[in-house]
Amino acid sequence: MNSSNEAWGSRIGLILAMAGNAVGLGNFLRFPTQAANHGGGSFMITYFIALLLLGIPLMWIEWGIGRNGGLYRKGHIPGMFAALWKHPAAKYLGAIGLVIPFIVLTYYTYIESWTLAYTFFSITKGYWGVESQAGMTDFLHAYQGIGSPGMAALWLPFLFFCLTLVINIWVVSKGISGGIEKLAKIGMPILFVFAAVLAVVVLLLPAQPEVGTTAADGLNFIYRPDLSGLGDAGVWLASAGQIFFTLSVGMGSLQTYASYLRKKDDILLSGIATAATNETAEVVLGGTIAIPAAVIFFGVTGVTQIAASGAFNLGFATMPLVFMQLPLGHLLGFMWFGLLFFAGITSSVAMATPIMAFFREEFGFKRERVAWTIGLVVLIAGMMHIRFLEFGFLDEWDYWAGTFGLALFATVEVILFMWVYKPENAWKSIHQGADIQLPRVFKFIMTFVTPAYLIVILLWWGYSEALPILTLVKNPNGGMYSPEVLPYVLLSRAIIVFILITFLILIRVAWKRNGYNDRVGFREVHEDALESESAFPSHQPNR
Ligand code: PHE
Repeated sequence: MNSSNEAWGSRIGLILAMAGNAVGLGNFLRFPTQAANHGGGSFMITYFIALLLLGIPLMWIEWGIGRNGGLYRKGHIPGMFAALWKHPAAKYLGAIGLVIPFIVLTYYTYIESWTLAYTFFSITKGYWGVESQAGMTDFLHAYQGIGSPGMAALWLPFLFFCLTLVINIWVVSKGISGGIEKLAKIGMPILFVFAAVLAVVVLLLPAQPEVGTTAADGLNFIYRPDLSGLGDAGVWLASAGQIFFTLSVGMGSLQTYASYLRKKDDILLSGIATAATNETAEVVLGGTIAIPAAVIFFGVTGVTQIAASGAFNLGFATMPLVFMQLPLGHLLGFMWFGLLFFAGITSSVAMATPIMAFFREEFGFKRERVAWTIGLVVLIAGMMHIRFLEFGFLDEWDYWAGTFGLALFATVEVILFMWVYKPENAWKSIHQGADIQLPRVFKFIMTFVTPAYLIVILLWWGYSEALPILTLVKNPNGGMYSPEVLPYVLLSRAIIVFILITFLILIRVAWKRNGYNDRVGFREVHEDALESESAFPSHQPNR
């Protein structure tokens, strides 16, 4: 008997949890920086093209793959791939769906812990008195222990990391409806209220005498369509990368969430509702806070420079400078970092779920035990990130798993679902129980356009970025690797390979242990075995 028999408690809970998964640091930190770095208005054009041709089709495809896996009680990618393709290689391909979430979970939780720390620094006015961008960057680096010799400087980031990790693991250990769904029901409304308040405050800010630019100039900078950047491959790649990251596609966690649905549950309307919520949070709220605020205080050229200087500077070094100049600035700062923390935690818990599902379903371990074990491993890996941050240790994981890995994973899953499983079956599968019927053009897009778009991006990325980074010609931020960081960079990569091998072995052991026959496939699990009510009670007899 399978030990994992979870389900969503309600449809609204499911959508909030899915949206919580998607809405994250990517929306409020990564998006503004990417947009500013890639020419604002040009980026937005390629961004919307990628949303339509990659993001939304992938969203439906991942819900489809997930729910299909759920029919066999497979909440993890190796099992879902094996359910689509009756071939011994399928399960091993699925290892990417365990490696990527584990890696991203580790560094993402660490970054999330900075936001928690900064809520304290805001409310206690810890950074009050720092006056310049450079001063705030030094403050951030001092917190991160960058440049200080020895471990003594690292106790504070370590403490906040442990706290963040414990909260995450505690939520995960309470399960799908008892932990993740409850967190989303509390966290998502808080996040939206904080974001809306901050957006309104920014829009009402007057121009600063020495600078002269307004919030409208900031909005213009991002949103005014601009065709001039469309010839630049970098803009197309960056916007596709942002679409993957922000929608959480190419990761494994949306599929796991979808695996707790039933055969008769809608996935098309719920999937598009999730994407729409994420895009509102990203384009409307994420676009209205950091960039316009920074434009008011630093001008458009200032913002471009800040964005180019590092992905987190806008959020951690620029926004505090703005808050210090405003009435009740410490409360606004608290709201900004609190918003980031809630956005982060509803995403990081999602990353743990594919790994949870794998160990529970295939090895029969108890939920709490798996959760706290994952926590322990993340703690150890996270300690390396804390210690080696300044040597680009985190950047490697972010590039290989959080950027290149997502595109790779997405390509593999689209080919499996749309081609190996066959377009007819895929189309029928996503329409099962659906509340809407998709226009047929989407079948064409999902079968031809999305895979072709993905393959072009993957090859282009592979050639222009992954290869030079792999061969140490340039680093993930576009600069050069300095000789003293090389040992750390290679260590960072070696650990990724080690994690991959470990998962491959575990998959092999699991299949042997459970006596699966790759050519025959899994047995369908009777839905009555599920623990709680359907997310769509109308389809279910009352119990
Ligand atoms: N979408 C999240 C964000 O925008 C990141 C994420 C990626 C979460 C993959 C879960 C899985 O921050």
